[in-house]
Amino acid sequence: MISQDQLDQTKIPQHIAIIMDGNGRWAKLHGKARVYGHHKGVESVRSVVEACTELGVKYLTLYAFSTENWKRPEQEVIALMELLVRTIRKETPELNTKNVRIRTIGDGHSLPKTCIDELNEAKQLTEKNTGLNLILALSYSGRWEIANAAKEIAKQVQEKKLNVDAIDEKLFEQYLNTKDIPDPELLIRTSGEYRISNYLLWQSAYSEFYFTKTLWPDFDKQELINAIYDYQNRERRFGKISEQLEVK
Ligand code: IPE
Ligand code: IPE
Ligand code: MG
Repeated sequence: MISQDQLDQTKIPQHIAIIMDGNGRWAKLHGKARVYGHHKGVESVRSVVEACTELGVKYLTLYAFSTENWKRPEQEVIALMELLVRTIRKETPELNTKNVRIRTIGDGHSLPKTCIDELNEAKQLTEKNTGLNLILALSYSGRWEIANAAKEIAKQVQEKKLNVDAIDEKLFEQYLNTKDIPDPELLIRTSGEYRISNYLLWQSAYSEFYFTKTLWPDFDKQELINAIYDYQNRERRFGKISEQLEVK
């Protein structure tokens, strides 16, 4: 078992992104309805947020609801939205005392009004906090985000506020939901699925991927430490060769 002391404090990723998957299977395994798994998943969120605060991670982005998740049975979608509202309401005061800043990415307008209101309140309350940035990806998908950015840029060009030649990667990033947020160094997916499911497509260009068979409701601080340890023992070459990295 890897202990926290074995982590290199100078190499803690500043941004960790997680695809929290496996709630439904966890519930099934325990003979319960899918929604029970989602409730249990909130406990994992709590312990991971706490661990990230402790370890000094600056940004934690959690995939909580994808654009594609709207296609789930209506009852499940409603239950997830209700859980979101209740969780935000219940957890925000504590998160606020821990100096956590709550943020969101995704198509916010598509959420029910109760969610929008609750989220706005939580975001406003924690706006000035300087600790962990807890970013919830809600009604989010990478393709939606990229297409949306392209549309915004096209509008600017059409209105002659932007020259086509000024469009490069740096400018494009300014139109993404994650503007001002560094790319995740580490992207974790639970539940043994090996796919990206439309998550942070642009931002994960050079992320290190960590897949674990653990179902999200069983994921905890120890699992996070394991993932960070694994990450710290990789060589990130960014297209270069090993020898160049030593010279720098
Ligand atoms: C992830 O767990 C939570 C959401 C997508 C909201 P799932 O609900 O996808 O669980 P599985 O994959 O069916 O086990
Ligand atoms: C991805 O999980 C989305 C979230 C974790 C919110 P899914 O369970 O929806 O992914 P797929 O559809 O199986 O790839
Ligand atoms: Mg799933």
